[in-house]
Amino acid sequence: MIKQIFATVAAIAALSAPALAAGDAKKGERVFKKCQACHQVGEDAQNRVGPILNDIIGRQAGTVEGFKYSDAMIEAGEEGMVWNDEHLHGYLEKPRDYIPGNKMSFAGLRKEEDRDDVVAFLEQYSDPDAVAADHEDDAEGESETEE
Ligand code: HEC
Repeated sequence: MIKQIFATVAAIAALSAPALAAGDAKKGERVFKKCQACHQVGEDAQNRVGPILNDIIGRQAGTVEGFKYSDAMIEAGEEGMVWNDEHLHGYLEKPRDYIPGNKMSFAGLRKEEDRDDVVAFLEQYSDPDAVAADHEDDAEGESETEE
């Protein structure tokens, strides 16, 4: 019986896990146009108004070398903020509220779908192991709420 419950929970987690990362990277590329005024990704990416977004998944907030962050962003990182699906969603929805005092002047992406898609796009430029570990964490978080 217990075994059965466990199997059910695991099955639910397995089913719902992809939903969290169901973004479409192709659509995300279009969403990223909104970020491109300030951010670059890819091989020749350079820091501009904002830091490069290569390897964003698993990166401590505020740590790209040579980029001058706000104190608020550096503090968020020092307090343990490591970029993952969840933090990116929170930050990209309302940058100003999520990290008060940070200096990204961007209103935010109101649509959850846009956030999903742009995260999926950015994941392509991150370490696949870090992305996989992040998705696993998401799955665990889901099964906790299912119980
Ligand atoms: C008007 C310029 C601008 C736009 C547009 C913009 N950003 Fe930013 N972004 C910044 C700046 C500046 C920072 C650094 C913030 C700080 O230090 O407080 C930043 C920081 C970030 C960080 C944290 C990086 C780190 O190294 O910790 C992420 C992630 C991010 N932006 C993603 C995005 C995404 C995705 C978009 C598009 C949906 C976007 N930004 C749009 C300027 C911008």
